[in-house]
Amino acid sequence: MDVRANSLIDWATTDELKNALLDIEKPVLMIGGGSNLLFMGDFKGTVLHSTISSIEIIGRTDDHVHVKVGAGVVWDDFVAWCTINGFWGVENLSAIPGEVGASAVQNIGAYGVEAKDVIDTVQTICLADGTERDFSNSECNYAYRQSIFKNELKGQYAVAYVIYALSTVPQPKLGYGALEQEVERLGGPTLANIRQAVISIRESKLPDPKVLGNAGSFFMNPVISEEEFNIIRSNYPDVPSYAAPGGVKVPAGWLIEKTGWKGRSLGPAAVYDKQALVLVNKGGATGADVKRLADTIIADVKQKFGITLSTEVNYI
Ligand code: EPU
Repeated sequence: MDVRANSLIDWATTDELKNALLDIEKPVLMIGGGSNLLFMGDFKGTVLHSTISSIEIIGRTDDHVHVKVGAGVVWDDFVAWCTINGFWGVENLSAIPGEVGASAVQNIGAYGVEAKDVIDTVQTICLADGTERDFSNSECNYAYRQSIFKNELKGQYAVAYVIYALSTVPQPKLGYGALEQEVERLGGPTLANIRQAVISIRESKLPDPKVLGNAGSFFMNPVISEEEFNIIRSNYPDVPSYAAPGGVKVPAGWLIEKTGWKGRSLGPAAVYDKQALVLVNKGGATGADVKRLADTIIADVKQKFGITLSTEVNYI
C-alpha cells in the first residue's frame, strides 16, 4: 500500500536508537518488515526500524546453543542459517515474511511450532527513557499470536536482540498433517528436507506478498467452547478442529469458506482463492478497502456461526 510516514529512522545499534529517542517526533511506531501491519492512512509521526543484522553464538551446552540475533535480521535468513549450521527449532517456521524483532512481538507460528518455543530472552530498549530491559521467556506472557509487547506493554519497547535456545540434536516436529508426507517424499526428516517441505506447502497455499499484497493470515483461529463446537459439528460433521487451551480451536479459513467468501472480492480487496484466511490487495486497495472486506467477513461469520473473529493483522 502506498502510505507515508513523516519520518523513518533506521537504527543499526542500540546507541543510535537511544540518541534518536532524545529528540523524536511523536507518535512513534516501531516496525519490523511491516508484514503484519495494515496502514489505514499516512503515519503522522516517526517510524523506527532496526537494522541490527548480527547473528552470534553466545553459549553452548551438550545439546543446545544460545544464539543472539539482531532485530533487523530477515526472519527467513535466520532460519536458513540455522538449517546450514545444524541447529534445530525454527525449521518449521521457514519462509515466514518479516524480521526477527517483530517475530518475538507477534509470536509467529506455523506447522506446530511457535517462536516462543525457542525464545530464551528478548532484549529491548524502553522508548520512553532509552533504558535497556531484558525479558525472559516467561515475562513475555506468550500465547497464540500474543505477547506482552502486543498487550500490556504495547508500543513501549523496541526489540534490539532476541536470544534463542536451539537444539544441536535432531528434534523433528512433523505433527502437522501434510508435513510428514512431504518430508518423507523428500527423503526423510533432515533439517534441509523439513525446511524445503515447509516452503513447498506454504507456496501451495499462501500468496507471495512481493507478487500479491497480503499479510498472511488476516484473522486468528478462534477458540470456542465444547458446547459451541458441538452445535457447529451437528450441522457440519466434517468441521476441522484442534484441542486448545480453554476449548476447541476451529480454523477461521474453514469458517470463512463456509460463508462463501473464498475467492470473492469486495472492490479491490479479495479473499485468496487457495486459503480463505488470507486477504489480498488485487491492486490499488487502501487500508479502508481491506478493513471493509474484513468487517463484512467478521459480520457474516458471526451471523452464520455465532463466532466473532479477531484479526491477527494490526491496524495502524
Ligand atoms: N481450511 C479450509 N478452507 C480454507 C483454508 C483452510 O477449509 O480456505 C481448513 C483446512 O482444510 C484445514 C484447516 O482449515 O483443515 C487449517 O488450514 P491450514 O493448515 O492452512 O492452516 P490455518 O489454520 O488456516 C494456521 C496459521 C498459519 C500457518 C498454518 C500452518 C493462524 C492464524 N494461521 O493457518 O499462519 O502457516 O496454520 O501451521 O494460526 C500466519 O499467521 O500468517 C500464517 C500464515
